[in-house]
Amino acid sequence: MNRVMKYFVMAFVVFASSITSQAQEGREPFDDRYCQTCHGIDGVGNVGVQAPRLAGMEDWYLERQLKLFRDGLRGIHPEDVEGVAMRPMAAKLSDDSIDDIVDWVGSWEYVPTPVTIEGNASRGEQLYSSCATCHGADGMGNEAMGAPQLAGQNDWYMVTQLKNFKANLRGDQSADSYGQQMRAMAASLNDDQAILDVVSYINTLGR
Ligand code: HEC
Ligand code: HEC
Repeated sequence: MNRVMKYFVMAFVVFASSITSQAQEGREPFDDRYCQTCHGIDGVGNVGVQAPRLAGMEDWYLERQLKLFRDGLRGIHPEDVEGVAMRPMAAKLSDDSIDDIVDWVGSWEYVPTPVTIEGNASRGEQLYSSCATCHGADGMGNEAMGAPQLAGQNDWYMVTQLKNFKANLRGDQSADSYGQQMRAMAASLNDDQAILDVVSYINTLGR
């Protein structure tokens, strides 16, 4: 099954389960765990549909990303297949339901993510020195800089995001100032090998 087909099937499952749950008890769709359909039962991420880990994510970052998707500042470029799959999931959320979802997802326990990529971590360590200013030397993020935790995030997802920033598929909207900052940084990674190397180093940071 190709990726677009998978999203189609997933979206149908989400749609069907939200109708059933609303008909049953008038509950919000997120009560029916539709986030977990793609992001995994424990929120650990699901490489099959390229949906990243949510468990253990900072509340301010989660909130901002849901609003970026909802407000059409992320997941709008047609070549950003994964972002385009995520955007409808946030499209109808009110600020209140986003607050509820952030509380709910915030209660999920962090589960370690497996290493899936190979790169040169010592070259990556040198590259990471410029990332540390915002994401922290330990990769635990920095709210004041708006930069999220990277340590413990799925490596395949970080690779995709760095490529997306570099290719202007993410972070190219003028109203998305944090995304724009990161896009400028991703441009400094010369090629796919540099991306694999820096993410391999992030894999060594652990949590
Ligand atoms: C149909 C599958 C699907 C469903 C259902 C879904 N997501 Fe996603 N989500 C994705 C994909 C795929 C991505 C990766 C987007 C990208 O690569 O930019 C994503 C990305 C995200 C991100 C960005 C993470 C980051 O590190 O920047 C957040 C936050 C998120 N989803 C939250 C949620 C929440 C909360 C729900 C439930 C309300 C949800 N998602 C439901 C597929 C889904
Ligand atoms: C000037 C500060 C800054 C620097 C330096 C920086 N970043 Fe970022 N990075 C950010 C911000 C802010 C975001 C969040 C963007 C958003 O909200 O969409 C981000 C997001 C990311 C993401 C996406 C995380 C996710 O969950 O979707 C990755 C991966 C990433 N950065 C890796 C790096 C790497 C690797 C470097 C070094 C080459 C780096 N960053 C340097 C500020 C920075």
